[in-house]
Amino acid sequence: MIGQDLLGIEDLERSKIELILETAVHMQEVGSREVKKIPTLRGRTVINLFFESSTRTKASFEIAGKRLSADVVNFSPSSSSLTKAESILDTAKTLDAMDPDCVVVRHKVAGVPQRIAEVLEAPVINAGDGAHEHPTQALLDMLTVSQAKGRIDGLTVAIIGDIAHSRVARSNIYGFSKLGAEVRVAGPPPMIPPAIEQLGVKAYTSLREVLEGADVIMALRIQNERLSGAYFPSVREYSATFGLNRAKLRWANEDAIVMHPGPVNRGVELDHELTDERPSVILDQVRNGVALRMALLYLISGRAPAAVED
Ligand code: CP
Repeated sequence: MIGQDLLGIEDLERSKIELILETAVHMQEVGSREVKKIPTLRGRTVINLFFESSTRTKASFEIAGKRLSADVVNFSPSSSSLTKAESILDTAKTLDAMDPDCVVVRHKVAGVPQRIAEVLEAPVINAGDGAHEHPTQALLDMLTVSQAKGRIDGLTVAIIGDIAHSRVARSNIYGFSKLGAEVRVAGPPPMIPPAIEQLGVKAYTSLREVLEGADVIMALRIQNERLSGAYFPSVREYSATFGLNRAKLRWANEDAIVMHPGPVNRGVELDHELTDERPSVILDQVRNGVALRMALLYLISGRAPAAVED
């Protein structure tokens, strides 16, 4: 994967997903050491180009790069020449002229990382673009499920909430389907895209029905920043119909796990208890995000495969 862009899961072969997940397991071991640093990307430069706010993705790419000894530059739009009307593409090309080995891009508009990748020499990793894809989130979710359940093939994954506006849902639908899981979705009807079943998933409007037989429950954030109309009568009604708590969790398989990409609207998608306690694996997802992004930076910006053993 050296020098290749990672723009989405839709076009990522199963063999590459498996390679990334296997490499992430090695990177988890680095994260468990007292000195969490290896020299694999010494002399390499990673630029975080986040045009949209982020806590988890941005911090974990920064930590991932630093654990691999790369030089990490966090670009700040508000103090850049974007404020002097420099375009996004000119900004990206300017940074590319400084010879980075990887550029990580998040933007609120779908397709921006791809457009940037078309004009950059450096490989581009999509850190989330509008409602299109969030490939690194899906990969860390697959890593989390494969370790919590011991497999992905044959599992039933229920994704609940704002499917229409969720890049996390799209990437996870592609990823879990490629690895052999049955993926289902549920949410208020206006939040379920009409063509969703063309992606090979079954859509439900009943929480109880989507949870019956589910091994993995992934609650999605209600994304107020991407909603332009009324998709449900009230937050209270959304919470009553699609919000999860321990009583509703009994509809799923006994050993089902609960996931959420974060940030959680507490009391809306999940109650406080399910946000903080098992079977929630939300903080495992966050922790795995560092190892997963280390794996990607290594595979895309590294050199010799043996270097990971250093
Ligand atoms: N899951 C996720 O992308 O979170 P952030 O917006 O905090 O990066």
